[in-house]
Amino acid sequence: MRYHVTNSAKSTPNQSAFSTLSSSLALGDDEPDRNLALELVRVTEAAAIAGGAWVGLGDKNSADGAAVDAMRSLLSTVRFNGIVVIGEGEKDEAPMLFNGEHVGDGNGAECDVAVDPIDGTRLTALGINNAIAVLAVAERGTMFDPSAVFYMEKLVTGPEAADMVDLRLPVKQNLHLIAKAKGKKINQINVMVLDRDRHKPLVEEIRNAGARTKFIMDGDVAGAIAAAREGTDVDALMGIGGTPEGIISACAIKALGGVIQGRLWPTSDEEKQKALDAGHDLDRVLSTNDLVSSDNCYFAATGITDGDLVKGVRYRGNQVLTQSIVMRSKSGTIRVVDGEHQAHKWETYGKQI
Ligand code: FBP
Repeated sequence: MRYHVTNSAKSTPNQSAFSTLSSSLALGDDEPDRNLALELVRVTEAAAIAGGAWVGLGDKNSADGAAVDAMRSLLSTVRFNGIVVIGEGEKDEAPMLFNGEHVGDGNGAECDVAVDPIDGTRLTALGINNAIAVLAVAERGTMFDPSAVFYMEKLVTGPEAADMVDLRLPVKQNLHLIAKAKGKKINQINVMVLDRDRHKPLVEEIRNAGARTKFIMDGDVAGAIAAAREGTDVDALMGIGGTPEGIISACAIKALGGVIQGRLWPTSDEEKQKALDAGHDLDRVLSTNDLVSSDNCYFAATGITDGDLVKGVRYRGNQVLTQSIVMRSKSGTIRVVDGEHQAHKWETYGKQI
């Protein structure tokens, strides 16, 4: 789709500002266009509704399976030519949208697609906050290929300290840089960390620096967004989490501003060798741009359970209510979208709601 902008000879300052913006948004048929952002919300809404039917039922694989099926089904209706480059599921042998799987209706822009039908399968199964259905899209060939290294060290913070922090620096130094950039005292800095045994030394370093930890059980995509987004009480996200989640987070951070830095963290000699064979330098600090080089990327997430980012799936009479957030990096527009859906139309997705 192409957007035509007609410039009148005498435009008001507002009109010319609009024209400039519109021109910068003009796209050819071969590039993903801005409508894609809203198309993607339908996809994450569907995954959230399907997964949401399993909230609190203690069965994370069924929840994930339902969300995967709904995501795949809705993706096939979106006008784009997508290839899943960041699939999900291999880590814990959960149901998945496969790497290399073609998605979309096959028309329009060629894109890389990163999916996480449920980020927070355990949260969903247990009915705990912060599970989301999430999807990111960028121009073809622009998403990092982690070559099956499932984990990555991560450092995420907002725009204020984005150019100062460096994953190679001691934790304490990064935290002081963040505090200074944000005009806060070190004891006012909240660092989100996945609650894992592997993070014991990190947690100690954070606390020794004088900052606070804010643990999450799962879901470091929502955590990364909280760390980068203004107006939250999270100043940074640190620690080791999924590489796919890191790449998805990078697409959101491209729209939000801020930074994500990552370093691959193989967990076995086999994984390490695989990464080396694929040409990865395991000491390299990957920047936001390394994780997704396109400046034309899209991010959509819908809440499954309630969270700070978005509300979870709710039921009201014959309706299912959803809340989503959608971002487009080119314009930097962030939208929060409330959906009211007719419950009976969603009964095909695995479980009656
Ligand atoms: P899933 O819900 O897809 O299992 O992922 C949840 C999650 O917490 C991610 O947000 C995070 O990146 C990753 O798992 C961390 O992995 P692990 O649970 O193995 O520490």
